[in-house]
Amino acid sequence: MRTVRFGIIGCGMMGREFASAAARWLHVPELTVRPEIVAICNRTLDVPKIAWFRENVPTLRQVTSDYRELLANPEVEAVYVAVPHHLHEELYVAALEAGKHLMGEKPFGIDRKANEAIVGAIERHPECFVRCASQFLFFPAVQRIGRMIEAGAFGRIIEVNAGFLHSSDLNPQKPINWKRMFRYNGEYGCMGDLGPHACTIPFRAGWLPKNVRAVLTDIVRERPDGEGGMAPCETWDNAVLLCEMQDAVSGGEFPFNLRIERISPGEKNNWYVEIYGTRASVRYSLKDANALELLEYAPGGEQHWRRIDMGHEVTYPSITPEIFQFGVSDAILQMWAAFLVELDTGHAPAPFAGCVTPAESALWHGLFTAALESQARTTTVAVAP
Ligand SMILES: NC(=O)c1ccc[n+]([C@@H]2O[C@H](COP(=O)([O-])OP(=O)(O)OC[C@H]3O[C@@H](n4cnc5c(N)ncnc54)[C@H](O)[C@@H]3O)[C@@H](O)[C@H]2O)c1
Repeated sequence: MRTVRFGIIGCGMMGREFASAAARWLHVPELTVRPEIVAICNRTLDVPKIAWFRENVPTLRQVTSDYRELLANPEVEAVYVAVPHHLHEELYVAALEAGKHLMGEKPFGIDRKANEAIVGAIERHPECFVRCASQFLFFPAVQRIGRMIEAGAFGRIIEVNAGFLHSSDLNPQKPINWKRMFRYNGEYGCMGDLGPHACTIPFRAGWLPKNVRAVLTDIVRERPDGEGGMAPCETWDNAVLLCEMQDAVSGGEFPFNLRIERISPGEKNNWYVEIYGTRASVRYSLKDANALELLEYAPGGEQHWRRIDMGHEVTYPSITPEIFQFGVSDAILQMWAAFLVELDTGHAPAPFAGCVTPAESALWHGLFTAALESQARTTTVAVAP
């Protein structure tokens, strides 16, 4: 069993999810590689979440508020950096310069320029294994869809719809935080925050946007500042993107409807994808996370949707029986298994079984940059390759 010693930089929501996944590595007993968290770094240390790490991570040996100290720790082989977007470039590049393997977070740079700087640092450090966290790829139904794409089961693609719908900002009384400020979250707004997750399937499939017409909306313009006043809420709340897509392999073209919404009444955390093809179609939504809807069509035959209960059909074998349901923390565990297996062996067991790559992050930066221009000019804009 190989042990990869990790440091976590940014001990917020996502940093804690990783600590929890690492703590239940016994759940994936067939793996021959495991993470061990030995160091953490957070901007402030005198907060309950740092006490949580100290209490729950017995392997922890370094706690610091200076990421340079963590990166200078020779015991740390890999880092998970989960910090606000304005810090991605500085911290990811520093991690690579320190020779650490890196799991970063989306949007992998606050804007396209930052993303290019990160990708440049990755090219200068081929010894570092680098991926971007996105757990949605690892839901069993999504892995099944990936295998169908690999097998060419859809026939010619007719149309793809994907999206990520939240209602987390429906309440106008919700206080402002960094995710609603240009300076920390970036100009993409909801696109940079939620959009990368919705792009994972099309981009991995090699379905790439040629152009985009985006309609972006800013619904709630100010929010309580937490100190009795109001603060401007600057970022785009919702984005609807219509793209002309091209299949990089077949050259086939089709429409791609991408909806990314923070204010989507009735939705909580609904990542979804729908693929319509001449031979098969699928519909999947996290609203019904264990069900895959599938329609297979033979010329002249009946059309009927089947609903498949996916259960625990996982890519990285776990101790949970196959008939049991699967959830978010299972997806996060599978994502970390994918990261470590690829770090250890140099390859993912299947094309859709690996984490999001830096090259895929460059694709969404191209798309969201074009979407901002489309909104500003109220016209269709070409997406730079
Ligand atoms: N994969 C997902 O589903 C998912 C979900 C939410 C957020 N994210 C991403 O994760 C990243 C972090 O988001 P979050 O929701 O965990 O944010 P968060 O605000 O909960 O946590 C961020 C943490 O970073 C710390 N921090 C800030 N500056 C720092 C610095 N200079 N050095 C060390 N620590 C510092 C903060 O103290 C905070 O604890 C973002 O890129 C976000 O887009 C991913």
